[in-house]
Amino acid sequence: MQTRILRKKQIKEAAEILKNGGLVAFPTETVYGLGANALDSTAVGRVYKAKGRPADNPMIVHISDKKDLGKITKRAPDKAKKLIDRFWPGPLTLILEKKDVIPSEVTCGLKTVAVRLPKNKTAQKLIQTCGFPIAAPSANKSGGPSPTKATHVLDDLDGRIDAVIDGGNTVHGLESTVVDMTTDPPTLLRPGAVTLEQIRRIIGEIDSNEKDHAKAPKSPGMKYRHYSPKARVILSERKMLSEKVRELKAGKKNVGLMAKTKAGNPDTFIQIGRTKVEIAKNLYGNLRLFDSKKVDVIVVEEIDEAGRGHAIMNRLRRAAQ
Ligand code: TXA
Ligand code: MG
Repeated sequence: MQTRILRKKQIKEAAEILKNGGLVAFPTETVYGLGANALDSTAVGRVYKAKGRPADNPMIVHISDKKDLGKITKRAPDKAKKLIDRFWPGPLTLILEKKDVIPSEVTCGLKTVAVRLPKNKTAQKLIQTCGFPIAAPSANKSGGPSPTKATHVLDDLDGRIDAVIDGGNTVHGLESTVVDMTTDPPTLLRPGAVTLEQIRRIIGEIDSNEKDHAKAPKSPGMKYRHYSPKARVILSERKMLSEKVRELKAGKKNVGLMAKTKAGNPDTFIQIGRTKVEIAKNLYGNLRLFDSKKVDVIVVEEIDEAGRGHAIMNRLRRAAQ
């Protein structure tokens, strides 16, 4: 299969492919998604195959209008409505009880479905033009870092999908925040661009104990290797960076360093970013860059966990597992 590269204006072509059961990767404000018609179980099945995704890891369904939520989910609790009013369109995914129109291939047999209304205009237009919701996991090979530009998608999936819409670099660079609204209090399943602090301001209490979830994953995706480049990732506090680099180099490793400033004598150094917004935006692209330089080990400087730091450190810890 030849993968077509479409421009942002070629929405009709992309929609046509999706209507015929094909796969189109498209930009969102978080990362690129690999889209299929969410109401077509055969098309959805192709997504798992193209990504090499485990068959028990469900997908997020993307809609383009709040009014469409009621078509695919049962009544949303009041707290969900409050979050929707404040954060949609945007990088927040809500887990709600599903209606029968959503095939079990999307949710892997769960009674719930993950739903998101993206802010990215290209994504919105694509969903609108299709006239059906789009199921889309991140458009990377399963286990690797998510794609934040069209070339990342092609590096992973060229020849395995019908098309990718090139919408340039994504704004946030990390996946959406996922909150399970079927528990009381709601449960944070994945931190993201919408922070815990922001969510608490709207609905008060939220269960966010990541360690417990790691033991008994509530979100199926949490149990798999994730976000990992080919190189091994090691996290380190600032003051230990140069020692870590020296040790690894003594062991004849090709060492990469991603930190606020250079420490020791790594083979490749990439500045991690000055602000958390910048760190998040470039994180996956940087991990991919180290792989292209054939680095064996990437030493990464730990950052503080306040605000967006929570999502960044969550991804880095998973990448380092
Ligand atoms: O920003 C994003 O969320 C991107 C863009 C494309 O929207 N999508 C994305 O999808 O990151 P994916 O498949 O890589 O991550 C979806 C996460 C997985 O951890 C999955 O297990 C969880 O959402 N999930 C999906 N449906 C679920 C459900 N019914 N219950 C619990 N977790 C669910
Ligand atoms: Mg993913």
